[in-house]
Amino acid sequence: MRRMCVCVLCAVVSGLLMWWMLLGNGAHPGVAQEKGAAGSGPSSVSFIRDVAPILKENCFACHDAKKKLGKYDMTSYEKLLAGGANGEAVIPGKPEESELYTLMVSQEERRMPPRDKGEAVPASKAEVVRRWIAEGAKLDGGIDAKADLNKELRVRWQPPRPPQAYPYPAIINALTFTPDGKHLISSGHHELLVWEVGSGKLLRRIWTRSERAYGMVFLPDGHLVVAGGRPGQEGDVRVYRWDASGPVVDGVMQLDGVHDPKVLVKHLVDTDDAVLCVAATPDGKRIAAGGCDRSVRIFDASRGVTQAELMQTVENHADWVLGCAWTADGQYLLTASRDKTAKVWNVAAKESVVTFPEHQSPVYGVAVRPDGSLGYSVGGDKQLRMWNPKGEGKQVGSSGGHTDEVYKVAIDGSGKYLVTGGADRSVRLWDVSGKGKVATVRQWTGLSDHVFAVAFSPDGQLVAAGCYDGMVTVWKTGDGSVVRQWNASPGWSGASNPPVPK
Ligand code: HEC
Repeated sequence: MRRMCVCVLCAVVSGLLMWWMLLGNGAHPGVAQEKGAAGSGPSSVSFIRDVAPILKENCFACHDAKKKLGKYDMTSYEKLLAGGANGEAVIPGKPEESELYTLMVSQEERRMPPRDKGEAVPASKAEVVRRWIAEGAKLDGGIDAKADLNKELRVRWQPPRPPQAYPYPAIINALTFTPDGKHLISSGHHELLVWEVGSGKLLRRIWTRSERAYGMVFLPDGHLVVAGGRPGQEGDVRVYRWDASGPVVDGVMQLDGVHDPKVLVKHLVDTDDAVLCVAATPDGKRIAAGGCDRSVRIFDASRGVTQAELMQTVENHADWVLGCAWTADGQYLLTASRDKTAKVWNVAAKESVVTFPEHQSPVYGVAVRPDGSLGYSVGGDKQLRMWNPKGEGKQVGSSGGHTDEVYKVAIDGSGKYLVTGGADRSVRLWDVSGKGKVATVRQWTGLSDHVFAVAFSPDGQLVAAGCYDGMVTVWKTGDGSVVRQWNASPGWSGASNPPVPK
């Protein structure tokens, strides 16, 4: 578990911290104070803008609705004032009598956060809290005293613009070909990037609220469904038109997927942590997405994705859901989890029908034959495993080949080929047309970094892989030759910036 975390997702988080420091962008809650609160100027402190982000960053981990240490839940204004076991924590106008403040700056043993659990709140931030209490500990107008502060903060958070030129390479967590097979879309920093496959030229940049896309899938009507989020902060599934139009700057079309309703056409769901995978049935009528909150949400898009509705929320795993795949008929959904199992969900019966435990380590990805006759999963055990997704979920076979953890697996539309990639910096193409048998057709080794994304073109003629260091490679499945290789990080100059440390 630990190792997986270090390898895949924490690497992503640490990369993001570097981004914050470099770009100084608005993503960090602390910047709110720059807007006058921290200074001694006449402007008054806003609870939601200035105080709540400090509490979220330093206190909510122990004082939310779930943990409530000291019987103290701080995640609504009402509860924050009411206090915990010792009663009122905030006495409006009297910071020195308010434990919310005095415990932050206390020189005694009892301090918050507890001395053995974390650093003291920086003095400038404690001062913001003191001033807020001194000014009467007021709640901003327009917010309900009972409202969940995590949600209020999320709603107010504004995504920064993606950097013009990347100071560090983009981590490629998701890739997809466009339906015509001529373009490849990669995940960037607060954006999706559209590249011409033949030339590796950047054609479009689509600004997204999501810091990072973890999964992408095209629907047959050309809508692009994207799962993503900000680790530990929020997750979302949103639907875009990548082929909308917008202004062209230096030969690259700029689309606004944050505000422009012609680009962002549907917002399917918001969650408290990143959404890591998304899958759709070939007819586009069912969409599923799963992630860090351990659940998988199933949407009914039979009246078109812009009318899609949440159908079921499935809580079938004990840890993050890392991958999902549909049988073509939309009856079964296969899922992969950090809880070391792959599972199968019967959508109509609303029940779990198979648990596949053989990996005995995190299962990073799943795929299924369109007819549902065979499921494939990859994991921390370096194996590609085949099993029966109906009936007893029996293993049919397993294949080594990869020499380290395998992170991604994808199946081509015809069900003939499978592609896998992982920590051994290699990509493998497998022929899975023989029932119950797999044979390695090709292997591309010696890539520059861990492979975090793989994709087939719609006609199965091309396969693409994306790495931790931003490199994207496209090969022909037919003869294995490289069509194009480039770094999918706009403006990044590899010469002057070393890659992000792992
Ligand atoms: C690592 C966990 C942890 C963090 C983080 C934390 N606390 Fe606590 N807090 C506790 C525990 C445990 C108690 C109960 C023991 C006590 O009251 O000393 C407590 C109690 C309190 C109480 C007393 C509640 C009552 O009525 O008894 C206040 C006030 C408080 N915390 C404020 C804060 C503030 C403000 C922060 C953030 C700056 C914070 N805490 C961060 C663990 C934490």
